[in-house]
Amino acid sequence: MSSSGKNKINFVCTNCGAVYPKWLGRCMQCGEWNTVQEHTVVSTPKNIRVSTQQNKEKIPQKLSDIETGVDNRLCLSIPEVDRPLGGGLVSGSVILWGGEPGIGKSTLILQICNAIAMKNRIVLYCSGEESELQIKLRAERLGMHTDNCLVLSESNLDKIFDEVERINPTMLVIDSIQTMFLSINDSAMGSPGQIRDCTASLVRMAKERNMIVMIIGHVTKEGNIAGPRLLEHMVDVVFYLEGDRSYQFRILRTVKNRFGSTAESGLFIMKNTGLEGIDDPSRYLLKDNHDEAVAGCTIVSCMEGLRPVLSEIQALTVHSVLAIPRRIASGYDFNRLIILLAVLEKKLHIPFSTDDVYINVVGGYRIKEPAADLAVALALISIKYDISWETPILALGEIGLSGEIMGVSKVSLRLKEGIKMNFTHFILPERNKKETEDICHDMKRPDLLKNIIFVKNLNEAIRLIKSK
Ligand code: TYD
Ligand code: MG
Repeated sequence: MSSSGKNKINFVCTNCGAVYPKWLGRCMQCGEWNTVQEHTVVSTPKNIRVSTQQNKEKIPQKLSDIETGVDNRLCLSIPEVDRPLGGGLVSGSVILWGGEPGIGKSTLILQICNAIAMKNRIVLYCSGEESELQIKLRAERLGMHTDNCLVLSESNLDKIFDEVERINPTMLVIDSIQTMFLSINDSAMGSPGQIRDCTASLVRMAKERNMIVMIIGHVTKEGNIAGPRLLEHMVDVVFYLEGDRSYQFRILRTVKNRFGSTAESGLFIMKNTGLEGIDDPSRYLLKDNHDEAVAGCTIVSCMEGLRPVLSEIQALTVHSVLAIPRRIASGYDFNRLIILLAVLEKKLHIPFSTDDVYINVVGGYRIKEPAADLAVALALISIKYDISWETPILALGEIGLSGEIMGVSKVSLRLKEGIKMNFTHFILPERNKKETEDICHDMKRPDLLKNIIFVKNLNEAIRLIKSK
Protein backbone atom coordinates (compact mmCIF):
# COMPACT_ATOMS: atom_id res chain seq x y z
CA MET A 1 0.00 0.00 0.00
CA SER A 2 1.39 3.38 -0.92
CA SER A 3 1.60 6.33 1.33
CA SER A 4 1.61 10.01 0.49
CA GLY A 5 4.11 12.26 2.22
CA LYS A 6 1.34 14.68 3.19
CA ASN A 7 -0.56 12.04 5.17
CA LYS A 8 -1.26 13.00 8.75
CA ILE A 9 -1.75 10.74 11.76
CA ASN A 10 -4.50 11.33 14.25
CA PHE A 11 -6.39 9.20 16.76
CA VAL A 12 -10.05 8.27 16.53
CA CYS A 13 -12.36 6.76 19.15
CA THR A 14 -13.94 3.62 17.70
CA ASN A 15 -16.96 4.05 19.95
CA CYS A 16 -18.05 7.62 19.32
CA GLY A 17 -15.78 8.80 16.51
CA ALA A 18 -14.11 11.64 18.49
CA VAL A 19 -10.79 12.71 16.96
CA TYR A 20 -7.64 13.51 19.02
CA PRO A 21 -4.18 14.71 18.00
CA LYS A 22 -2.53 12.16 20.35
CA TRP A 23 -3.33 8.78 21.83
CA LEU A 24 -5.47 8.60 24.95
CA GLY A 25 -6.26 5.60 27.13
CA ARG A 26 -9.78 6.87 27.68
CA CYS A 27 -11.98 8.78 25.26
CA MET A 28 -12.77 12.19 26.74
CA GLN A 29 -16.04 12.40 24.86
CA CYS A 30 -17.73 9.07 25.58
CA GLY A 31 -15.63 7.92 28.54
CA GLU A 32 -14.84 4.47 27.04
CA TRP A 33 -11.45 2.90 27.77
CA ASN A 34 -9.06 1.59 25.10
CA THR A 35 -11.18 2.70 22.18
CA VAL A 36 -8.85 5.37 20.77
CA GLN A 37 -6.91 4.04 17.79
CA GLU A 38 -4.39 5.44 15.33
CA HIS A 39 -5.78 6.66 12.04
CA THR A 40 -3.98 7.90 8.95
CA VAL A 41 -5.69 10.87 7.33
CA VAL A 42 -5.08 11.03 3.62
CA SER A 43 -4.29 14.67 2.95
CA THR A 44 -6.66 15.28 0.04
CA PRO A 45 -9.72 13.24 -0.82
CA LYS A 46 -7.86 11.91 -3.88
CA ASN A 47 -8.74 8.42 -2.78
CA ILE A 48 -12.34 9.27 -3.46
CA ARG A 49 -13.24 9.26 -7.09
CA VAL A 50 -14.69 12.53 -8.26
CA SER A 51 -16.65 12.52 -11.50
CA THR A 52 -16.78 15.36 -13.96
CA GLN A 53 -20.32 15.97 -12.83
CA GLN A 54 -19.08 16.48 -9.27
CA ASN A 55 -16.51 19.00 -10.48
CA LYS A 56 -19.20 21.31 -11.83
CA GLU A 57 -19.56 24.58 -9.88
CA LYS A 58 -22.30 24.14 -7.32
CA ILE A 59 -24.54 27.10 -6.60
CA PRO A 60 -27.38 27.32 -4.10
CA GLN A 61 -30.82 26.67 -5.59
CA LYS A 62 -34.35 27.73 -4.66
CA LEU A 63 -36.33 24.88 -3.12
CA SER A 64 -39.06 25.45 -5.69
CA ASP A 65 -36.56 25.00 -8.53
CA ILE A 66 -35.42 21.59 -7.40
CA GLU A 67 -37.19 18.87 -9.32
CA THR A 68 -38.45 15.99 -7.26
CA GLY A 69 -39.48 13.79 -10.19
CA VAL A 70 -41.54 10.71 -9.56
CA ASP A 71 -41.11 8.75 -6.35
CA ASN A 72 -38.41 6.43 -7.59
CA ARG A 73 -38.52 3.90 -4.80
CA LEU A 74 -37.68 0.37 -5.71
CA CYS A 75 -40.14 -1.91 -3.97
CA LEU A 76 -38.65 -5.29 -3.04
CA SER A 77 -41.91 -7.16 -2.54
CA ILE A 78 -40.49 -8.31 0.81
CA PRO A 79 -42.96 -6.52 3.14
CA GLU A 80 -40.82 -6.97 6.26
CA VAL A 81 -37.99 -5.05 4.57
CA ASP A 82 -40.06 -2.63 2.47
CA ARG A 83 -41.94 -1.32 5.49
CA PRO A 84 -38.89 -0.39 7.60
CA LEU A 85 -37.39 1.16 4.45
CA GLY A 86 -40.40 3.45 4.21
CA GLY A 87 -41.86 1.81 1.10
CA GLY A 88 -38.81 0.63 -0.82
CA LEU A 89 -35.25 1.45 -1.75
CA VAL A 90 -34.44 5.01 -2.79
CA SER A 91 -31.87 5.27 -5.57
CA GLY A 92 -28.57 6.75 -4.48
CA SER A 93 -29.15 5.77 -0.87
CA VAL A 94 -26.56 4.13 1.35
CA ILE A 95 -27.87 1.59 3.84
CA LEU A 96 -25.87 0.21 6.71
CA TRP A 97 -26.80 -3.20 8.08
CA GLY A 98 -25.36 -3.87 11.52
CA GLY A 99 -25.58 -6.99 13.59
CA GLU A 100 -23.63 -9.65 15.40
CA PRO A 101 -21.73 -12.18 13.28
CA GLY A 102 -23.88 -15.15 12.30
CA ILE A 103 -27.21 -13.44 12.91
CA GLY A 104 -28.25 -13.59 9.23
CA LYS A 105 -27.17 -10.32 7.59
CA SER A 106 -25.59 -11.92 4.51
CA THR A 107 -28.61 -14.19 4.15
CA LEU A 108 -31.11 -11.33 4.25
CA ILE A 109 -29.09 -9.15 1.87
CA LEU A 110 -28.76 -12.01 -0.61
CA GLN A 111 -32.54 -12.41 -0.49
CA ILE A 112 -32.86 -8.67 -1.20
CA CYS A 113 -30.39 -9.04 -4.10
CA ASN A 114 -32.59 -11.80 -5.46
CA ALA A 115 -35.69 -9.61 -5.16
CA ILE A 116 -33.99 -6.83 -7.13
CA ALA A 117 -32.50 -9.20 -9.69
CA MET A 118 -35.98 -10.62 -10.30
CA LYS A 119 -37.02 -7.12 -11.35
CA ASN A 120 -34.49 -7.29 -14.19
CA ARG A 121 -31.92 -5.12 -12.52
CA ILE A 122 -28.25 -5.84 -12.07
CA VAL A 123 -26.85 -6.30 -8.58
CA LEU A 124 -23.17 -6.60 -7.66
CA TYR A 125 -22.54 -8.52 -4.43
CA CYS A 126 -18.96 -8.07 -3.22
CA SER A 127 -17.77 -10.16 -0.32
CA GLY A 128 -14.49 -9.91 1.53
CA GLU A 129 -15.56 -12.78 3.78
CA GLU A 130 -16.73 -15.55 1.52
CA SER A 131 -15.62 -17.07 -1.78
CA GLU A 132 -17.84 -17.00 -4.87
CA LEU A 133 -18.51 -20.71 -4.29
CA GLN A 134 -19.68 -20.12 -0.71
CA ILE A 135 -22.01 -17.38 -1.93
CA LYS A 136 -23.34 -19.67 -4.62
CA LEU A 137 -24.04 -22.44 -2.09
CA ARG A 138 -25.94 -19.97 0.06
CA ALA A 139 -27.83 -18.67 -2.96
CA GLU A 140 -28.82 -22.26 -3.80
CA ARG A 141 -30.16 -22.75 -0.28
CA LEU A 142 -32.21 -19.62 -0.78
CA GLY A 143 -33.51 -20.92 -4.11
CA MET A 144 -31.94 -18.13 -6.16
CA HIS A 145 -31.80 -18.75 -9.88
CA THR A 146 -30.90 -15.50 -11.52
CA ASP A 147 -28.20 -14.21 -13.81
CA ASN A 148 -28.74 -10.61 -12.76
CA CYS A 149 -26.91 -11.01 -9.46
CA LEU A 150 -23.15 -10.91 -9.98
CA VAL A 151 -20.84 -11.97 -7.17
CA LEU A 152 -17.26 -10.98 -6.54
CA SER A 153 -15.00 -12.13 -3.73
CA GLU A 154 -12.79 -9.08 -3.28
CA SER A 155 -11.47 -6.87 -0.49
CA ASN A 156 -9.83 -4.16 -2.54
CA LEU A 157 -12.35 -1.36 -2.89
CA ASP A 158 -10.48 0.17 -5.84
CA LYS A 159 -11.01 -3.05 -7.79
CA ILE A 160 -14.66 -3.12 -6.75
CA PHE A 161 -15.06 0.46 -8.05
CA ASP A 162 -13.56 -0.58 -11.40
CA GLU A 163 -16.14 -3.34 -11.64
CA VAL A 164 -18.94 -0.94 -10.69
CA GLU A 165 -17.89 1.35 -13.54
CA ARG A 166 -17.81 -1.58 -15.96
CA ILE A 167 -21.06 -3.24 -14.87
CA ASN A 168 -23.07 -0.20 -13.73
CA PRO A 169 -25.27 -2.11 -11.27
CA THR A 170 -28.50 -0.80 -9.71
CA MET A 171 -27.22 -1.93 -6.34
CA LEU A 172 -23.83 -2.66 -4.83
CA VAL A 173 -23.43 -4.81 -1.72
CA ILE A 174 -20.33 -4.66 0.47
CA ASP A 175 -20.07 -7.66 2.82
CA SER A 176 -18.56 -6.55 5.15
CA ILE A 177 -17.04 -3.10 5.57
CA GLN A 178 -14.55 -4.55 8.08
CA THR A 179 -12.99 -6.63 5.31
CA MET A 180 -12.53 -3.82 2.77
CA PHE A 181 -9.56 -1.54 2.13
CA LEU A 182 -8.53 1.37 -0.06
CA SER A 183 -4.92 0.92 -1.15
CA ILE A 184 -4.17 4.63 -0.72
CA ASN A 185 -4.90 4.35 3.00
CA ASP A 186 -2.09 2.90 5.10
CA SER A 187 -4.23 1.78 8.03
CA ALA A 188 -4.88 -1.90 8.58
CA MET A 189 -8.00 -3.55 7.22
CA GLY A 190 -10.81 -3.19 9.77
CA SER A 191 -9.19 -0.22 11.53
CA PRO A 192 -11.44 2.78 12.19
CA GLY A 193 -9.58 4.93 9.67
CA GLN A 194 -9.83 2.37 6.90
CA ILE A 195 -13.51 1.70 7.64
CA ARG A 196 -14.31 5.40 7.66
CA ASP A 197 -12.51 6.16 4.41
CA CYS A 198 -13.98 3.12 2.68
CA THR A 199 -17.47 4.20 3.73
CA ALA A 200 -16.87 7.80 2.68
CA SER A 201 -15.83 6.68 -0.80
CA LEU A 202 -18.82 4.33 -1.04
CA VAL A 203 -21.17 7.14 -0.06
CA ARG A 204 -19.61 9.42 -2.66
CA MET A 205 -19.89 6.69 -5.28
CA ALA A 206 -23.56 6.08 -4.44
CA LYS A 207 -24.49 9.76 -4.76
CA GLU A 208 -22.51 10.25 -7.98
CA ARG A 209 -23.92 7.24 -9.78
CA ASN A 210 -27.34 7.29 -8.12
CA MET A 211 -26.66 3.70 -7.15
CA ILE A 212 -28.00 1.92 -4.06
CA VAL A 213 -25.20 0.80 -1.77
CA MET A 214 -25.69 -1.70 1.03
CA ILE A 215 -22.93 -1.93 3.57
CA ILE A 216 -22.82 -4.80 6.05
CA GLY A 217 -20.99 -4.21 9.33
CA HIS A 218 -20.43 -6.51 12.28
CA VAL A 219 -20.91 -5.38 15.84
CA THR A 220 -20.12 -7.40 18.91
CA LYS A 221 -22.53 -7.72 21.83
CA GLU A 222 -20.74 -4.83 23.51
CA GLY A 223 -20.84 -2.83 20.26
CA ASN A 224 -17.33 -1.58 20.94
CA ILE A 225 -15.39 -2.60 17.84
CA ALA A 226 -14.61 -0.24 15.01
CA GLY A 227 -17.63 -0.54 12.88
CA PRO A 228 -21.20 0.49 12.33
CA ARG A 229 -21.48 2.80 15.33
CA LEU A 230 -18.78 4.99 13.84
CA LEU A 231 -20.54 5.13 10.49
CA GLU A 232 -24.12 5.83 11.44
CA HIS A 233 -23.91 9.54 10.67
CA MET A 234 -22.38 8.98 7.23
CA VAL A 235 -25.14 6.84 5.74
CA ASP A 236 -28.84 7.40 4.93
CA VAL A 237 -30.38 4.39 6.63
CA VAL A 238 -29.15 2.27 9.53
CA PHE A 239 -30.67 -1.12 10.28
CA TYR A 240 -29.74 -3.56 13.01
CA LEU A 241 -30.62 -7.20 12.64
CA GLU A 242 -31.12 -8.54 16.14
CA GLY A 243 -31.94 -11.85 17.72
CA ASP A 244 -30.47 -14.76 19.55
CA ARG A 245 -28.64 -17.29 17.41
CA SER A 246 -30.09 -20.14 19.44
CA TYR A 247 -33.61 -19.09 18.44
CA GLN A 248 -35.26 -18.61 15.07
CA PHE A 249 -36.74 -15.19 15.76
CA ARG A 250 -35.04 -12.15 14.18
CA ILE A 251 -36.01 -8.51 14.25
CA LEU A 252 -34.86 -5.81 11.86
CA ARG A 253 -34.76 -2.53 13.77
CA THR A 254 -34.49 0.87 12.11
CA VAL A 255 -32.04 3.11 13.94
CA LYS A 256 -31.98 5.88 11.35
CA ASN A 257 -33.91 6.48 8.16
CA ARG A 258 -33.67 9.63 6.08
CA PHE A 259 -36.57 8.41 3.91
CA GLY A 260 -39.02 6.97 6.42
CA SER A 261 -39.98 6.37 10.00
CA THR A 262 -37.68 4.69 12.49
CA ALA A 263 -40.65 3.28 14.38
CA GLU A 264 -41.09 0.47 11.88
CA SER A 265 -39.36 -2.85 12.18
CA GLY A 266 -39.30 -6.13 10.30
CA LEU A 267 -40.01 -9.47 11.95
CA PHE A 268 -38.59 -12.73 10.64
CA ILE A 269 -37.84 -16.29 11.50
CA MET A 270 -34.69 -17.99 10.25
CA LYS A 271 -35.51 -21.10 8.27
CA ASN A 272 -33.41 -23.51 6.19
CA THR A 273 -34.42 -21.50 3.16
CA GLY A 274 -33.48 -18.11 4.59
CA LEU A 275 -35.29 -15.45 6.54
CA GLU A 276 -39.06 -15.55 6.28
CA GLY A 277 -41.24 -12.58 7.22
CA ILE A 278 -43.88 -13.25 9.87
CA ASP A 279 -46.94 -11.37 11.01
CA ASP A 280 -47.74 -13.38 14.14
CA PRO A 281 -44.53 -12.99 16.18
CA SER A 282 -46.25 -13.83 19.47
CA ARG A 283 -46.74 -17.41 18.29
CA TYR A 284 -42.97 -17.85 17.95
CA LEU A 285 -42.09 -16.08 21.18
CA LEU A 286 -44.46 -17.74 23.60
CA LYS A 287 -43.86 -21.24 24.87
CA ASP A 288 -46.39 -23.84 23.73
CA ASN A 289 -47.50 -24.44 27.32
CA HIS A 290 -47.99 -20.77 28.20
CA ASP A 291 -51.40 -21.48 29.67
CA GLU A 292 -49.73 -23.01 32.76
CA ALA A 293 -48.79 -20.31 35.27
CA VAL A 294 -45.46 -20.65 37.06
CA ALA A 295 -43.99 -18.44 39.80
CA GLY A 296 -41.67 -15.80 38.38
CA CYS A 297 -43.27 -15.66 34.93
CA THR A 298 -45.37 -12.89 33.42
CA ILE A 299 -46.39 -11.98 29.91
CA VAL A 300 -45.88 -8.57 28.35
CA SER A 301 -47.12 -6.98 25.15
CA CYS A 302 -44.54 -4.69 23.53
CA MET A 303 -44.95 -2.58 20.41
CA GLU A 304 -42.74 -3.05 17.38
CA GLY A 305 -43.81 -0.15 15.22
CA LEU A 306 -47.55 -0.59 15.04
CA ARG A 307 -47.48 -4.27 15.86
CA PRO A 308 -47.85 -5.78 19.31
CA VAL A 309 -45.46 -8.58 20.21
CA LEU A 310 -46.17 -10.81 23.19
CA SER A 311 -43.28 -12.30 25.08
CA GLU A 312 -42.71 -14.08 28.35
CA ILE A 313 -40.55 -12.65 31.10
CA GLN A 314 -38.94 -15.07 33.52
CA ALA A 315 -37.34 -14.01 36.77
CA LEU A 316 -35.21 -15.93 39.24
CA THR A 317 -33.79 -14.77 42.54
CA VAL A 318 -31.59 -16.77 44.89
CA HIS A 319 -29.74 -15.79 48.03
CA SER A 320 -26.31 -14.60 46.96
CA VAL A 321 -23.06 -15.98 48.33
CA LEU A 322 -21.07 -13.25 46.56
CA ALA A 323 -19.93 -9.97 48.09
CA ILE A 324 -21.58 -8.16 45.19
CA PRO A 325 -24.72 -10.05 44.16
CA ARG A 326 -25.02 -11.02 40.54
CA ARG A 327 -27.54 -9.34 38.20
CA ILE A 328 -28.07 -10.81 34.75
CA ALA A 329 -30.59 -9.53 32.21
CA SER A 330 -31.01 -11.42 28.97
CA GLY A 331 -33.29 -9.70 26.47
CA TYR A 332 -33.91 -6.87 28.93
CA ASP A 333 -32.09 -3.63 29.66
CA PHE A 334 -29.60 -4.16 32.48
CA ASN A 335 -29.80 -0.59 33.78
CA ARG A 336 -33.58 -0.71 33.79
CA LEU A 337 -33.41 -3.86 35.93
CA ILE A 338 -31.10 -2.13 38.41
CA ILE A 339 -33.54 0.79 38.69
CA LEU A 340 -36.52 -1.53 39.20
CA LEU A 341 -34.67 -3.44 41.94
CA ALA A 342 -33.84 -0.16 43.66
CA VAL A 343 -37.50 0.97 43.53
CA LEU A 344 -38.71 -2.42 44.83
CA GLU A 345 -36.22 -2.31 47.69
CA LYS A 346 -36.81 1.32 48.66
CA LYS A 347 -40.58 1.56 48.18
CA LEU A 348 -41.72 -1.97 48.98
CA HIS A 349 -38.88 -3.00 51.31
CA ILE A 350 -38.23 -6.17 49.37
CA PRO A 351 -34.61 -7.08 50.13
CA PHE A 352 -33.15 -7.83 46.73
CA SER A 353 -29.74 -6.43 47.63
CA THR A 354 -28.61 -9.75 49.07
CA ASP A 355 -30.02 -11.81 46.19
CA ASP A 356 -28.66 -12.80 42.82
CA VAL A 357 -31.23 -11.68 40.25
CA TYR A 358 -31.73 -13.12 36.79
CA ILE A 359 -34.18 -11.90 34.15
CA ASN A 360 -34.74 -13.72 30.89
CA VAL A 361 -37.01 -12.89 27.98
CA VAL A 362 -38.01 -16.12 26.26
CA GLY A 363 -37.51 -16.59 22.52
CA GLY A 364 -34.53 -14.32 21.89
CA TYR A 365 -36.61 -11.13 21.83
CA ARG A 366 -35.08 -7.91 23.23
CA ILE A 367 -37.48 -5.71 25.16
CA LYS A 368 -36.83 -2.01 24.59
CA GLU A 369 -39.94 -0.51 26.12
CA PRO A 370 -40.48 0.77 29.68
CA ALA A 371 -44.06 -0.54 29.30
CA ALA A 372 -42.59 -3.90 30.37
CA ASP A 373 -41.54 -2.56 33.81
CA LEU A 374 -44.60 -3.81 35.65
CA ALA A 375 -44.35 -7.29 34.13
CA VAL A 376 -40.69 -7.51 35.22
CA ALA A 377 -41.48 -6.21 38.73
CA LEU A 378 -44.36 -8.67 39.12
CA ALA A 379 -42.19 -11.56 37.94
CA LEU A 380 -39.56 -10.55 40.51
CA ILE A 381 -42.03 -10.24 43.38
CA SER A 382 -43.74 -13.48 42.43
CA ILE A 383 -40.49 -15.49 42.45
CA LYS A 384 -39.23 -13.80 45.59
CA TYR A 385 -42.30 -14.91 47.54
CA ASP A 386 -42.84 -18.04 45.46
CA ILE A 387 -46.38 -17.09 44.54
CA SER A 388 -47.83 -18.25 41.26
CA TRP A 389 -51.05 -17.20 39.62
CA GLU A 390 -53.83 -19.55 38.67
CA THR A 391 -53.57 -18.40 35.08
CA PRO A 392 -50.80 -16.51 33.30
CA ILE A 393 -50.92 -12.76 33.76
CA LEU A 394 -50.33 -10.16 31.08
CA ALA A 395 -49.05 -6.99 32.74
CA LEU A 396 -48.39 -3.54 31.32
CA GLY A 397 -47.13 -0.33 32.88
CA GLU A 398 -44.11 1.88 33.26
CA ILE A 399 -42.81 2.24 36.83
CA GLY A 400 -41.63 5.63 38.06
CA LEU A 401 -38.91 6.10 40.66
CA SER A 402 -41.47 6.70 43.38
CA GLY A 403 -43.23 3.42 42.58
CA GLU A 404 -46.13 4.93 40.66
CA ILE A 405 -47.38 3.04 37.61
CA MET A 406 -47.70 5.17 34.52
CA GLY A 407 -50.00 4.55 31.61
CA VAL A 408 -48.84 2.97 28.36
CA SER A 409 -49.57 3.90 24.76
CA LYS A 410 -51.58 1.81 22.29
CA VAL A 411 -53.36 -0.23 24.98
CA SER A 412 -55.96 -1.28 22.48
CA LEU A 413 -53.50 -3.07 20.17
CA ARG A 414 -51.59 -4.62 23.07
CA LEU A 415 -54.71 -5.87 24.78
CA LYS A 416 -56.25 -7.27 21.60
CA GLU A 417 -53.08 -9.25 20.87
CA GLY A 418 -53.23 -10.70 24.39
CA ILE A 419 -56.86 -11.67 23.91
CA LYS A 420 -56.03 -13.16 20.51
CA MET A 421 -53.37 -15.34 22.15
CA ASN A 422 -55.97 -16.57 24.67
CA PHE A 423 -54.83 -14.64 27.74
CA THR A 424 -57.66 -13.85 30.11
CA HIS A 425 -56.08 -12.10 33.11
CA PHE A 426 -54.52 -8.67 32.86
CA ILE A 427 -52.93 -6.12 35.19
CA LEU A 428 -52.97 -2.65 33.68
CA PRO A 429 -52.23 0.90 34.85
CA GLU A 430 -55.10 2.80 36.44
CA ARG A 431 -54.43 5.57 33.94
CA ASN A 432 -55.48 3.29 31.09
CA LYS A 433 -58.75 2.29 32.79
CA LYS A 434 -61.15 4.45 30.79
CA GLU A 435 -59.54 3.50 27.49
CA THR A 436 -59.58 -0.20 28.40
CA GLU A 437 -63.26 -0.11 29.38
CA ASP A 438 -64.09 1.52 26.05
CA ILE A 439 -62.09 -1.12 24.19
CA CYS A 440 -63.87 -3.98 25.95
CA HIS A 441 -67.25 -2.43 25.21
CA ASP A 442 -66.32 -1.80 21.58
CA MET A 443 -65.28 -5.44 21.30
CA LYS A 444 -68.59 -6.42 22.90
CA ARG A 445 -66.58 -8.27 25.56
CA PRO A 446 -67.50 -6.49 28.83
CA ASP A 447 -66.96 -9.88 30.52
CA LEU A 448 -63.20 -9.37 30.08
CA LEU A 449 -63.28 -6.46 32.52
CA LYS A 450 -63.85 -8.72 35.52
CA ASN A 451 -60.38 -10.19 35.00
CA ILE A 452 -58.61 -6.89 34.41
CA ILE A 453 -57.07 -5.30 37.49
CA PHE A 454 -56.03 -1.67 37.40
CA VAL A 455 -53.20 -0.54 39.65
CA LYS A 456 -51.95 2.93 40.56
CA ASN A 457 -48.68 2.03 42.21
CA LEU A 458 -46.44 -0.86 43.15
CA ASN A 459 -47.92 -1.09 46.66
CA GLU A 460 -51.27 -2.00 45.17
CA ALA A 461 -49.61 -4.53 42.88
CA ILE A 462 -47.82 -6.26 45.75
CA ARG A 463 -50.99 -6.37 47.87
CA LEU A 464 -52.61 -8.06 44.93
CA ILE A 465 -49.92 -10.70 44.71
CA LYS A 466 -49.83 -11.36 48.44
CA SER A 467 -53.61 -11.76 48.56
CA LYS A 468 -53.24 -14.72 46.19
P1 TYD B 1 -25.27 -15.33 7.84
O1 TYD B 1 -26.19 -14.68 6.89
O2 TYD B 1 -23.99 -15.87 7.29
O3 TYD B 1 -24.92 -14.35 9.05
P2 TYD B 1 -24.05 -13.00 9.05
O4 TYD B 1 -23.83 -12.57 7.65
O5 TYD B 1 -24.87 -12.04 9.87
O6 TYD B 1 -22.76 -13.32 9.74
O7 TYD B 1 -26.12 -16.49 8.51
C1 TYD B 1 -25.69 -17.09 9.65
C2 TYD B 1 -26.44 -18.32 10.03
O8 TYD B 1 -27.68 -18.48 9.41
C3 TYD B 1 -25.65 -19.54 9.70
O9 TYD B 1 -25.20 -20.07 10.93
C4 TYD B 1 -26.56 -20.49 9.04
C5 TYD B 1 -27.90 -19.87 9.18
N1 TYD B 1 -28.72 -20.01 7.96
C6 TYD B 1 -29.96 -20.59 8.08
O10 TYD B 1 -30.39 -21.02 9.16
N2 TYD B 1 -30.74 -20.69 6.96
C7 TYD B 1 -30.31 -20.26 5.75
O11 TYD B 1 -31.04 -20.38 4.75
C8 TYD B 1 -29.01 -19.66 5.64
C9 TYD B 1 -28.49 -19.18 4.32
C10 TYD B 1 -28.27 -19.56 6.78
MG1 MG C 1 -22.03 -12.58 6.62
